Amino acid sequence: MTDRPSPLGNPEHPLELSAHTMRAMVEQAMARIIPHIESLPDQPAADTSGGEALARSLREPIPQQGQPFETLFDDIFRITRTSFTASGPGYLAYIPGGGLFHAAVADLIADAINRYVGVWAAAPGLAQLEANVIRWFCDMVGYPASAGGFLTSGGSLANLSAVVTARRTHLADDFLRGTIYTSNQVHHSVLKAALLAGFPTGNIRSVPVDEDFRMRLDALADRIAVDRREGYQPFLVVGSAGTTNTGAVDDLTALADIAGRENMWFHADAAYGGFFVLTDRGRQRLAGLERADSLSLDPHKGLFVPYGTGSLLVRDRELLARAHGVSADYMPAIQHHDDDLVDFCEISPELSRPFRGLRVWLPIKMHGIDVFARALDEKLDLSHWITDQLERVDGLEILARPQLTVTAFRVMRPGWSVDEANSATRALLDAVNRRRRVYLTGTMLDERFVIRICVLSFRTHQDRMEMCLEDIVEAMDDMTLERT
Ligand SMILES: Cc1ncc(COP(=O)(O)O)c(C=O)c1O
Repeated sequence: MTDRPSPLGNPEHPLELSAHTMRAMVEQAMARIIPHIESLPDQPAADTSGGEALARSLREPIPQQGQPFETLFDDIFRITRTSFTASGPGYLAYIPGGGLFHAAVADLIADAINRYVGVWAAAPGLAQLEANVIRWFCDMVGYPASAGGFLTSGGSLANLSAVVTARRTHLADDFLRGTIYTSNQVHHSVLKAALLAGFPTGNIRSVPVDEDFRMRLDALADRIAVDRREGYQPFLVVGSAGTTNTGAVDDLTALADIAGRENMWFHADAAYGGFFVLTDRGRQRLAGLERADSLSLDPHKGLFVPYGTGSLLVRDRELLARAHGVSADYMPAIQHHDDDLVDFCEISPELSRPFRGLRVWLPIKMHGIDVFARALDEKLDLSHWITDQLERVDGLEILARPQLTVTAFRVMRPGWSVDEANSATRALLDAVNRRRRVYLTGTMLDERFVIRICVLSFRTHQDRMEMCLEDIVEAMDDMTLERT
């Protein structure tokens, strides 16, 4: 050790903060974050009123002068108030995000140390921590030792890399006769992935679903046969392991059989549903997931970490490398000698990337995976509970019972047309959301407008589901009174 002065806090280099300032920043941030998290149950489930004016008021030229960080922190928390409370217990909309605080601390560490994990040689141990996370996921779904994958920013990017890997495995460079098969309930990120991978919309076959919103296998087989006769090259089936609309899980075993028979790639979009394999009920529901050639799995959904973490797993990681590996002379040495050691830049689209592994690794290491399994089991229970309750409410019709944790229902009275049901259901949705204890969203099932309840936040428990039921029942009563 030399006794040179600390490099921190030298006024000639203002970007190198002093130890005192670093500590003060974290303390001041914590002084705002903890009350914010404590108040989540009391915050409106969503409040974006005045959002447009707020957004416009924030526009400014690039600052020439600095400001104290305390003022800026206050601004951030003030601006935050105008938003969906996506990390709160009442957020039952879309697919709820999580927001484990552990992950925020992991990000602080990862960003502060700012090591490079895109290339194994640059941080072998840290790259291994991320590789462990991928291995845990592969084991969890029952993938073989040949499997591998990487963490992405979310399900959309995982689906994109899956389509590209399938394309580069099954088709030649001239791939425009290649056709892709999904149910008409598939998440739109799969369609976007196909477009970004170079396929015209006309090459994407939207297969009809059965009464449980699962891809119809007869329709799939027929369409593949027709396409082959017409000279197309069917190469990819995308099954949904939990759709966004109703949480429907396609018959993954049957899709794997069809894909195998037809020599096609089978990708499962398990971005929302995949982590339910940690539970007994989920494992049964997701049977066949392990037979997919690739699958998307979003820790920022089913493992409750903050937005920005998805993953793609592939049964044969060599195919990922073949689809994504491109070399350059200026790169540090890529190691090829040991299959066990991974260079993430070789198997994924990114070169420089955040150290996403730590935000998943830390919470799992702190608690063990069973804590997550139990939390997911609780979500299954809550989803079944609210569905059973809604079934007893006069004037409500359940259109999708939970296959995982999504329920879809609408207002329907004898003799009503679809339009009447749709407008009453929209009115109910508005009335429930106006109470602000829960935030629900709607969707279309064919021409029918339905309200969805998706239970996935680790902060949602029985008390909030009771509030949800109470708000729906009271809003229904109010609507009935208005009509009489
Ligand atoms: C089933 C499904 N697939 C893919 C995605 C896309 O994931 P992301 O928003 O992380 O890109 C979503 C998002 O909600 C989803 O529900």
